[in-house]
Amino acid sequence: MGRVEIIRVRGGARLEGEVFVAGAKNSVLKLMAAALLAEGRTVIENVPRILDVTIMAELLRRLGCEVEWVEDELTIDVPAEPGTEADYDLVRRLRASICVLGPLLTRRGRVKVAYPGGDAIGSRGLDMHIDGLERMGAKVSSEHGFVIAEADRLHGASIWLDFPSVGATENLVSAAALADGTTVIDNAAREPEIVDICGMLIAMGAKISGAGESTVLIEGVPELKPVRHRTVGDRMVAGTWAVAATMTRGDVLVRGADPRNLEIALDKICTAGAQVSAEQDGFRVKMDHRPKAVDVVTLPYPGFPTDLMPMAIALAAVSDGPSMVTENVFDARFMFVNEMARLGADVRTDGHHAVVRGRDQLSGAPVTAHDIRAGAGLLLAGLCADGVTEVSDIRHIDRGYPAFVPQLQGLGADVQRVDVPDDELALEF
Ligand code: EPU
Repeated sequence: MGRVEIIRVRGGARLEGEVFVAGAKNSVLKLMAAALLAEGRTVIENVPRILDVTIMAELLRRLGCEVEWVEDELTIDVPAEPGTEADYDLVRRLRASICVLGPLLTRRGRVKVAYPGGDAIGSRGLDMHIDGLERMGAKVSSEHGFVIAEADRLHGASIWLDFPSVGATENLVSAAALADGTTVIDNAAREPEIVDICGMLIAMGAKISGAGESTVLIEGVPELKPVRHRTVGDRMVAGTWAVAATMTRGDVLVRGADPRNLEIALDKICTAGAQVSAEQDGFRVKMDHRPKAVDVVTLPYPGFPTDLMPMAIALAAVSDGPSMVTENVFDARFMFVNEMARLGADVRTDGHHAVVRGRDQLSGAPVTAHDIRAGAGLLLAGLCADGVTEVSDIRHIDRGYPAFVPQLQGLGADVQRVDVPDDELALEF
């Protein structure tokens, strides 16, 4: 019988102390893909120790790059002619692999990337990525599970996104950086991670204006050069700590993330009753009573982030009163609420709304993490549950939260990673 790791948490501790937040997963993966735009050594700083970075590094190696990861610094040496194919075995483990589409197409004139498929939070289309590249002159086809794009040279275009997709904006900005002429992307995503990648591209020599606004203008240049770039702090990890402090009636100083990138989430926490103050290189959250119920509606930035929705459900589950949580970005992101219900949460969903009636106390139980954020939300609920909660499938948590368990321990939580026999029943049929 094999063994697996789980996270075991005994609820009841008040989180107190200081935590450091590393670079954002959803930025660093795209910065790594953007490195493909220039031959030579790109260095990325403030890289979080997470599984997704390991997978992306492997993908870059298979494209012919040399990748070295020392402490929080990643060096990517890109050859003159990187490979053009990303296989399903890596893409299925890391949807962000799709971000090599734009950089490789514009650099090599051809790219073949496996379709990532859907995942535990819902369907994840590529139509806006593909439509934008076609407008820039690419011929895009689909064969045997791969999307294949070809263009001797991309040209500038006017692109209107139906929805401000983060991934499509990143792919199209990268592709346009080396295209002939000017590209305008309207209804572009405005996330801080978009600003981060545009900042790196500008340092590489790209001509981009409007990053962080709805209209981004990119004037193509013939060549980019490698640079050294520091990844923006992870606002999702920071937001997770903010909610954890609020739920446990704690006092936590979060360093390494800019509170201005988390305004709506921190405002909700204030409405729930916590005190939030800006500090040097971060912020502090203090709470001394049961949180008051708040409603939350997820939207693209600067709206409440969908990646913090599971934390909002966990908070609502222990708050005083009913909360309505509305999910507008992914179509199946409420799947994890059944696991929350195992912890005693009173949650009912109807379409993209969830109604949560807060309870005085949750009740520890074994639960399963189906995705990164759901896993973190379940752990937060476990911190407030009576008795022991065991979270399994924690590889998902490892994909996005560096050193989560030691950091929780540092704040006073009773939590461990535990190696247990894999009790998957091997039934014959
Ligand atoms: N969509 C389409 N067609 C497209 C592109 C997107 O229909 O061509 C839809 C998606 O199906 C989804 C919505 O648009 O319903 C939003 O998708 P978006 O492209 O904005 O998301 P993404 O780039 O695939 C990134 C993050 C997610 C985060 C979302 C929204 C990375 C690697 N992932 O995904 O992060 O939830 O933006 O902010 O950057 C996570 O970190 O746990 C995570 C899921």
